[in-house]
Amino acid sequence: MEIDPTAVSLRPFRISDADDFLSFAGDDRVTRFLRWKTLASREEALATIRDVCIPHPWRRTVCVGDRCVGFVSMWPGSGDDRCRADIGYGVAREWWGKGVATRAVRMALSQVFGDFPDVLRIQAFVGVDNKASQRVLEKAGFTRDGLLRKYAYLKGDLQDLYLYSFLSTDIVPAY
Ligand SMILES: CC(C)(COP(=O)(O)OP(=O)(O)OC[C@H]1O[C@@H](n2cnc3c(N)ncnc32)[C@H](O)[C@@H]1OP(=O)(O)O)[C@@H](O)C(=O)NCCC(=O)NCCS
Repeated sequence: MEIDPTAVSLRPFRISDADDFLSFAGDDRVTRFLRWKTLASREEALATIRDVCIPHPWRRTVCVGDRCVGFVSMWPGSGDDRCRADIGYGVAREWWGKGVATRAVRMALSQVFGDFPDVLRIQAFVGVDNKASQRVLEKAGFTRDGLLRKYAYLKGDLQDLYLYSFLSTDIVPAY
């Protein structure tokens, strides 16, 4: 059943999120499609929040109520690439299929176009086998730009990736 969208929020990571963070960043089912090493301990979770999540250019934890259940990251380009940002996201297994990622991605899009005025395009690279992620992007209003054949390695496997994009002009009222 879909969650009440108003229960989902984004905020910066806190050190106190370590246990919740470990519960999804330590789960191979979540990290399988990410360039993340699956975390193995609370100490690794604390260090990753402190050294990676908090200093990140734009990474937010996805909360349901007060609970940290996922993340959304954006990597804005610089110089001649300042017009675009790459997006990544993940949600704890127990929350899959409830609309959490779609809601989080929609909120992130609105915020990032405001936070980085040079960014006009947000793009996502998604493995051809990652149907859930493709569906999230479609529900959030992204356009599939094309297929990038043998584009990058993910955990040792050479991948065909779909490239999706969302432009600042794709935001509609009440998005
Ligand atoms: C991708 C991911 C973030 C989706 O999170 P979520 O909160 O379950 O997403 P939502 O509930 O908003 O939407 C999921 C959609 O995918 C659909 N879906 C799930 N598995 C599917 C499959 N195997 N084939 C087709 N559609 C599928 C769901 O039915 C739903 O669509 P619907 O609302 O039309 O029914 C989550 O699965 C995850 O964390 N995966 C691991 C990390 C990851 O892949 N990140 C993205 C890297 S590009």
